[in-house]
Amino acid sequence: RYEESKPVEGQFVTDVDQWEESQRYKTDLRTGAMDREVVEEAYDYVFDESQGIQFLQEGRLDGTLTAEAQAMLDQIAAAEKKAMSIQETRQSLPIYEFRDELLEAIAEHQVLVVVAETGSGKTTQLPQYLHEAGYTKGGMRVGCTQPRRVAAMSVAARVADEMGSRLGQEVGYSIRFEDMTSDKTVLKYMTDGMLLREFLTDPELSTYSALIIDEAHERTLSTDVLFGLVKDIARFRPELRLLISSATLNAQKFAAFFDDAPIFDVPGRRFPVDMFYTQQPEANYIHAAVTTILQIHTTQPKGDILLFLTGQDEIEATEENLKETMYALGDKVPELIIAPIYANLPSEMQAKIFEPTPEGARKVVLATNIAETSITIDGVVYVIDPGFVKQNNYNPKTGMSSLVVEPISRASAQQRAGRAGRVGPGKAFRLYTKWAFKNELLQDTIPEIQRTNLANVVLMLKSLGINDVLNFDFLDKPPAETIIRSFELLYALGALNHKGELTRLGRRMAEFPVDPMLSKAIINSENYKCTHEVLTIISMLQESGSLLYRPKDKRVHADKAHKNFIKPGGDHFTLLNIFEQWADANYSQQWCYENFMQYKSLVRVRDIRDQLAGLCERVEVIIESLPNEIIPVQKAITAGYFYNTVSAHYTFSTSVPLSIYKSHISGALDDKGEGSELTLQARIDKGGGYRTTKNNHSVYVHPSSCLIGMQPPPRFILYYELVLTSKEYMRQCMPIEGTWLSELAPHYFNKSEVEQMMGSAGKVKMPKQVAELKVGPVLA
Ligand code: CDP
Ligand code: MG
Repeated sequence: RYEESKPVEGQFVTDVDQWEESQRYKTDLRTGAMDREVVEEAYDYVFDESQGIQFLQEGRLDGTLTAEAQAMLDQIAAAEKKAMSIQETRQSLPIYEFRDELLEAIAEHQVLVVVAETGSGKTTQLPQYLHEAGYTKGGMRVGCTQPRRVAAMSVAARVADEMGSRLGQEVGYSIRFEDMTSDKTVLKYMTDGMLLREFLTDPELSTYSALIIDEAHERTLSTDVLFGLVKDIARFRPELRLLISSATLNAQKFAAFFDDAPIFDVPGRRFPVDMFYTQQPEANYIHAAVTTILQIHTTQPKGDILLFLTGQDEIEATEENLKETMYALGDKVPELIIAPIYANLPSEMQAKIFEPTPEGARKVVLATNIAETSITIDGVVYVIDPGFVKQNNYNPKTGMSSLVVEPISRASAQQRAGRAGRVGPGKAFRLYTKWAFKNELLQDTIPEIQRTNLANVVLMLKSLGINDVLNFDFLDKPPAETIIRSFELLYALGALNHKGELTRLGRRMAEFPVDPMLSKAIINSENYKCTHEVLTIISMLQESGSLLYRPKDKRVHADKAHKNFIKPGGDHFTLLNIFEQWADANYSQQWCYENFMQYKSLVRVRDIRDQLAGLCERVEVIIESLPNEIIPVQKAITAGYFYNTVSAHYTFSTSVPLSIYKSHISGALDDKGEGSELTLQARIDKGGGYRTTKNNHSVYVHPSSCLIGMQPPPRFILYYELVLTSKEYMRQCMPIEGTWLSELAPHYFNKSEVEQMMGSAGKVKMPKQVAELKVGPVLA
């Protein structure tokens, strides 16, 4: 393999090609990808005493090795040792014993369900076994799906390491807005959503010889849809191999779905885990978790801790809390290494969770649900489980989704506890009562397909030519109501016509890997010649949760810096402004530092934007710009987001006699002179607020929005997303005109309906006296 590329004897590296060549030798040496003989040769080549060293340090050589060369040799020796240990680790995994049996079963059965405990080696080893067994010959690929971005990235990196190749070469990954693969890639890890999109360009997935639908038990929306699609292509691609791999849950169900496919059960190594419950329910689980960590740290023998939290905010708060506590304790206690892991964590920081813990110290990993099954962290002996998870919940009755922190299921609690028993006997501390475990938790997590908006999926299936979506081969059917809501939304967006067929607009929308409401906004922006601005806003919205940098000790500074970006027109324009100023500053990191922005997030926004712009080209949307204009941009966005709109409901100060309102504001009091239901409700809430335009559901402007405190408060607002904390909050808000609703979404709002809304929200004439009392939605 190296013969042909070896430079001619006697010629040493003088040009760039040859330099690269020698670098490759070194990489291969390091990772053990070369056999002994080639290694020796390569040593001669790279480190020839009399001449070879020359390319490293021109003319510094005098027949002996320089210090640098010696250091390099040492490094190579160390790396070789590591390469050895990587091979040993591979062979120590539970799945290794079954390698040959597995390959036989795969050869024999087109579909195989592989079940093994988390950490057995399914994700990292199965694709390599297939590769070693020749499934990647002739340019064919092995694909492996992951429900989570972070898992796809970290596992690909690990496998690249194991195979001694550079990430993106033989082993690569593909996640939304980031493609880390090349022509050379034969093992491709990807999110399930990305494989789903590949069906659009290659409906037979003809470049894959084998597909592994991994972490099947997670039952994400995309995985569930994939099940139906891959089952279908397996019928007319008999040579295609399908592996459904799952932790120890639901295997029978998968097997049954794939026409009674055989189940290959890899027995796990599992040590007993002692369970501990709290006596009383915990009011504040973060507090309880921190206390538990410290108790473990000071009283329990060696072993790392894994704590499950619901999201980045909680993880950061806990990290700070722990750091402060540890600082206060000083050197009274041994070192505690705090390692967070969540989806938006920059990848170079993710590596920290995998680093071995030094002797005498203890590591505590603060993780989202990602550590439940997708990622295995060695060395964990103690698990702390507060019993919550953040998930998206959709209510087909109202058509609204929001992110909600919810109790986990018993199945999930068992998986979490299991993470403690991988290296030896472990302990799981559940921050809830035994009674709650038995009586309050559901047995299984409800699959995402049954609790999410399906507009995206329906649009995708429609573009794949699957017309009868209601009767698609689902593992678990989504509620018919949800599918019907999706049809309604797609019809209202103009993606489907009145016969339920995909329109040209719908076809164009399906090209974009974003929510149909966003893709509609992008495509619609061409009518207003402001695609440039809309693209930026939409890309910013994708990252808006992790954009602002607010370190605790500089919070005031940060908030002040962020205030400078506020622009009229709503939060969307603030986002636009941030991006444009950053662009003007040549996308510099320094600028982010000065303005308290997360550089990584902005870089991602730029990538997302570039990709969306590329897709615009594909569907022939011309990217024009209308700088400094507000209304056209607002309208373009409203054309996609009319579904997420609310109108104002007025609140009344309790210290003002109701009669004052009565004479001026119709509808405030009912016929009997009592406060109407609306008024009373508003008074109870004290905060006042907004109601969704279609369902009259109460929602509130998020405290981070620039619309807070706006006078007069806008009558109609469009929001990007809802988050449920103490109340249902709208995040990323923009004021709009009520009349736009029937103008831009005539399939959804009729004129009289809008006029009526304007009547209750718009036409109220407030006397000055009342206006001064800040009647109107009290936003703060
Ligand atoms: O998929 P499954 O849960 O069965 O196991 P895996 O993800 O293939 O992990 C097998 C082993 O690889 C783990 O026990 C870890 O020791 C190691 N691994 C790692 O060190 N770093 C990663 N990013 C992923 C896995
Ligand atoms: Mg796995």
